[in-house]
Amino acid sequence: MRGETYMDLAVDFMGLKLKNPIMVAAGPLTATGEMLRQAVEAGAGAVVTKTIVNEIRPKVRPRLAALGEGMQNIELYTEFSLEAWEHEIRYAKSHGAVIIANILAHTPSEMADIALRVEKFGADAIELGVACPHGEGLEGLFADPAQLYSFTKSVVQRVNIPVMVKLSPNVTNMAKMAMSAEQAGASAVSAIDTVRAIIGVDLESGRPLLSTYGGYSGPPVRPIGLAAVALISQAAKIPVCGIGGISNSHHVLEYMMLGASTVQLCTSLILNGLDSLSKIIHDLETWLMQHNVADFGQIRGKALQSLKSFEEIKVEPYVAKALQGCSDLSCNLCVRGCIYKAVHKSKFKVTVDQNLCTGCGLCLSVCPDKAFVLEWK
Ligand SMILES: Cc1cc2nc3c(=O)[nH]c(=O)nc-3n(C[C@H](O)[C@H](O)[C@H](O)COP(=O)(O)O)c2cc1C
Repeated sequence: MRGETYMDLAVDFMGLKLKNPIMVAAGPLTATGEMLRQAVEAGAGAVVTKTIVNEIRPKVRPRLAALGEGMQNIELYTEFSLEAWEHEIRYAKSHGAVIIANILAHTPSEMADIALRVEKFGADAIELGVACPHGEGLEGLFADPAQLYSFTKSVVQRVNIPVMVKLSPNVTNMAKMAMSAEQAGASAVSAIDTVRAIIGVDLESGRPLLSTYGGYSGPPVRPIGLAAVALISQAAKIPVCGIGGISNSHHVLEYMMLGASTVQLCTSLILNGLDSLSKIIHDLETWLMQHNVADFGQIRGKALQSLKSFEEIKVEPYVAKALQGCSDLSCNLCVRGCIYKAVHKSKFKVTVDQNLCTGCGLCLSVCPDKAFVLEWK
């Protein structure tokens, strides 16, 4: 799929030189050194390990449930001991991987001890995996700015490699958490980890599909991730790594335009295969070339410039107009979806009653043919 390489996608992230800004996120695809190697072979600019802890335990079964495009997991940490990770990291490094070791512990000093060990094993950076929504009552850590600060500071003071802090969307103020990480000396933050969820209930048995609260991921969480990255980018100075629901190059660019310097992918690679990475990278190159973008700096944060606060938005007299581009007059999505009964269809054309239309904009997004525009009344 890659064929010729159009342009250089290399980025400098936290001082790491990455061949491209796309990483494989901590999860089941980064559980062993061999899997890290495969991710690099598939094209990843860096790989983030499954969360490394001191106390390992077997995985619960079942632990994954996909419904539509979203996935719930109740998976916790690595099944390998800290000692075993020495071999896994060295192996992946010997195959050219840039490795970010995702780690977690119960106290700041234990966290710093693990960080020191993975640094010795050869990890290029650390991600504090403090944001998992299930297990071990971790809310205290991921939702408390003071605790996040002390865990981060403890690690930053002990290691010489960059430290990134992974943030949870399950808090009221993500910007505050990002500021805590920044003040503690973190080199970057990554967002988001999964959204606390129960994916469904089996009505016949009356049981939830998975046996405890878990983390929701995949395309449905992307709007949550995008908002998180925008909010953090507006509040903090350190770079942001965008995560959540990315499955194509368009999504990568959306995250970047809202301020992300790099991105991570997990669920889409589980569902579509690691091979899908090469198409994402190829499409990203193509888009950049077609839009004469030589450097990610040209697009990073571009959408933030027009992201207003609600109070800044002026009420302007826009109404919808149907462009006669409807290819299926029997589709009716626009008519059904018009809350104000302003859209009408005859045998031959679609019209909008401009006296009933309130300019909500829904017809523009439901129409598969994009056959509506908003016009100044
Ligand atoms: C099955 C599964 C296991 C995961 N395990 C970890 C983990 O060990 N550590 C961690 O920090 N995040 C973990 N995550 C969260 C992902 O790294 C990522 O933040 C999240 O899934 C959102 O990205 P996505 O929509 O691309 O999957 C896991 C996600 C999934 C789906």
